[in-house]
Parts: sequence; C-alpha cells; structure tokens
Amino acid sequence: MIQVESVEKAYTSRKNTVRVLERVSLEVRPGEVCALLGRNGSGKTTTIRIICGLVLPDAGRVSINGYTLGEPEYMAQFGALIDTNRGLYPRLSPLENLQYTCMVRGMSRQAAVERAKHLLEELGLWDKRNAPTQTLSKGMLSKLAFANAIAHDPPFVLLDEPTLGLDIDAAEALEAQIRQMAQSGKGILLTTHQMEVAERLASRVAILSKGRIAVDRPKSELMAMFARQTYRVVLAEPLLEDILPMAHSLDETRTVLEVSLEHPRQIYELMDKLRPAPIKHIERLEADLGEIFKTLTKEPHHV
Ligand SMILES: Nc1ncnc2c1ncn2[C@@H]1O[C@H](COP(=O)(O)OP(=O)(O)OP(=O)(O)O)[C@@H](O)[C@H]1O
Ligand SMILES: [Mg+2]
Repeated sequence: MIQVESVEKAYTSRKNTVRVLERVSLEVRPGEVCALLGRNGSGKTTTIRIICGLVLPDAGRVSINGYTLGEPEYMAQFGALIDTNRGLYPRLSPLENLQYTCMVRGMSRQAAVERAKHLLEELGLWDKRNAPTQTLSKGMLSKLAFANAIAHDPPFVLLDEPTLGLDIDAAEALEAQIRQMAQSGKGILLTTHQMEVAERLASRVAILSKGRIAVDRPKSELMAMFARQTYRVVLAEPLLEDILPMAHSLDETRTVLEVSLEHPRQIYELMDKLRPAPIKHIERLEADLGEIFKTLTKEPHHV
C-alpha cells in the first residue's frame, strides 16, 4: 500500500510563500485505481513528485509496502510517469531506453530485451523501436514514458496525466492497460483533467482543493451521493402549456422535458401533471464526475 501521511509542502520565493499541500493524507491499495483530481495548481504533480522522492516534503511521511524513501527497496515498489521527458534519454532509441530501465531495476540483459520488445509491440511503438527517442511525436513519447514507468513491472504505478496528447486509439489502449494492471493487483494513482477518463477508470476518487484532500471516497459512493433527482421525459405530443410547478426545461419541439425534483416521490406529482400527454419515455439522468468535481472545488471567483 502507498501511504501518504500528513504531508506538507510550501514553496518559498523571495516574494512570498505558497502553501501547496497542508496535511495531505492518501492511501493507494493494491488492485485499485485512485484518481487524484484537482484544479490546475492544486498540488497533484507535487504529491506524485513527493511519492517519487523528487521533492522532499516539509513534514509528513510517505511509505510504500512499509518501505520509506531512502531504503533501497523503496524505488522498486513503484514506476512513475510524470512528464514525458523525465527518465528518457533523447539520443537512445525506445528499445534502448526501455532495456536500460529494466536492467537498472535488476533484470538480466536477455529478460530486459524481451520485456522492452513486448512493451513496444503492445503500445504500438514497434516501428519506432530503433529511432532516436528525440524524434518521436508527442503522443509517441507519452506512450514510451508509460512503457518506461511500467517496464520493471512494479506493484504500484503513478501516472500524472497519462492520456494527455494521445489519439483516441492510443488513449483507449492505455485505459485498457491501466484497467488490466489494476485487475492483476497493481495499485494505481492517476491524475487527469479528463473527467470521463477518471469516471471510467477510477475505483476511488480523491480531490485536492486548497491544499487539502477535500474528498476521498469510492467512486460508486461519490456518484451515489450526488445522484441527481433529474429526469428526462419524452412526450409523444408537444406539451402545450407550462403546467409544471417544479423546475424544468423544455426543448424547442416541446416534447423533451428535463425536470429537477427535490424528492423522488415528486415523480408521481410529475406524472399526474403530465397525465393527458402520452409519455413515450422517462429516465433518470446520472450524475457525472465533471459536475461533482465542479461542485466540490468551487471557489468564489468561479461562481
Ligand atoms: N518548483 C516549484 N517552485 C515553486 N512553486 C512550485 C514548484 N512546483 C510547483 N509549484 C507550485 O505549486 C503549486 C502546485 O503545483 P502542481 O504542479 O503540484 O499542481 P497540479 O495540481 O499538478 O496542477 P496542473 O493540473 O496544472 O498540473 C502551484 O502553485 C505551483 O506553481
Ligand atoms: Mg500537474
């Protein structure tokens, strides 16, 4: 398990001090995908950098499977994709880069070559295996950085905006990889601004806001908390008059209604009011993570 306990981090310049993380605690367990969400500058990358040992926290403690930073076993517990250039040698080829990473992490030469080839094939980088890494496109670099993060098959994987810049096929393939890694028992910490990605992949959602973890819950629980009492009703004939006492909107054909109820039992009142009009279809609209995120991280100037 990754355990981040009461971590604090501030950056001080000559002019001021920015308190980025204030007593942030977070856990990532094997087999789960934890989406760490937050607005720009909320401290997601800083948190990941701290776990990687690239930034030292001012206070608090981080451990992975019981090992702490400084113990030699610590670095073997995780792989990380932070920014796509980090850890890649621009003049080496993708094959050489991956092979190097595997060997540094203790694999034999033969095993490293095989693993590198397997990853390049799987991620669609086979054609570029011998090209200098610096000549790869941005998306190809992202894929290679991802491969590099998982090259040594670590139990935990930290991914900072992994689908950024990927085309639709590549993004889908990456999502499938992440899902499969979680199924095989790896713990994944993922940051993204793409709420649909988080919604599809995450088993847990943690939201950083104002230096703190504002929310940390199983995704299903969070979605249930915010389940909306909003219904879409499709009528067979246009609604002639606005007869509804509850908040609603009507499309221009006057046949599609969206109604927000304060309580589920108002659904009967709604049906009653609509009674003369034939109802073709009625459905409850799902909450979506994007809206939940906006609600939970709302700041006065965003209103
Ligand atoms: N090396 C640094 N020196 C000074 N301030 C920094 C440094 N690194 C990050 N910060 C500041 O810390 C805050 C958090 O940055 P961080 O990169 O962790 O945010 P983030 O949540 O990853 O944002 P984004 O979604 O834009 O990637 C920002 O205010 C940023 O300016
Ligand atoms: Mg970031």
